[in-house]
Amino acid sequence: MTAQPFLYVVVCAAGIAGDAHKLITAAQEQGWGVGVVATPQGLGFLDTEAVEAQTGYPIRSAWRRPGDARPLPSADAIAVAPATFNTINKWAAGIADTLALGILCEAYGMDIPTVVLPYVNAAMAAHPAYGRSLEQLRGMGVMIGSYEPHRPKAGGGADRFRWEEALELLEGKFD
Ligand SMILES: Cc1cc2nc3c(=O)[nH]c(=O)nc-3n(C[C@H](O)[C@H](O)[C@H](O)COP(=O)(O)O)c2cc1C
Repeated sequence: MTAQPFLYVVVCAAGIAGDAHKLITAAQEQGWGVGVVATPQGLGFLDTEAVEAQTGYPIRSAWRRPGDARPLPSADAIAVAPATFNTINKWAAGIADTLALGILCEAYGMDIPTVVLPYVNAAMAAHPAYGRSLEQLRGMGVMIGSYEPHRPKAGGGADRFRWEEALELLEGKFD
């Protein structure tokens, strides 16, 4: 591991994505360097200037061009937070049509400790693919947050979404 471990925070287009700075702050307080990778949809939920000022790195969302330098150091760990229904299902199925998914699909083969904090409503979570995807990811060694899906059309559950759970779950991997 590098002198300062580096965490990728993968931000998807879920209602609470704009609070991702809470996880960035908590990770930095624990000594992580942090870089943000947003899905193309997730990018629209972020205050990009504020996030880039906080991390000191550009937010990555698209693939770099061949020959361009890598904008972020390599990841020692990855936290997908918040994770959408869409990205969870595509990741489990091995689809890599966003940079975020490409990084996640590759992380398995690179043994990078990865945690996912889904933020999904109960109607979406009821779809049979969702449970299968979580099982698939669990079987791949991905650590899964404990957030219980909120009622649809009821304003979400931001108050019980524990960003710091991502760091708690990763802790065991870096003892
Ligand atoms: C305002 C808004 C809030 C949304 N919140 C959620 C959410 O909390 N969870 C979720 O799974 N999808 C949510 N969606 C739907 C996703 O944004 C949509 O499925 C998108 O394709 C996800 O893209 P991504 O997985 O590449 O980030 C929301 C959409 C909008 C417009």
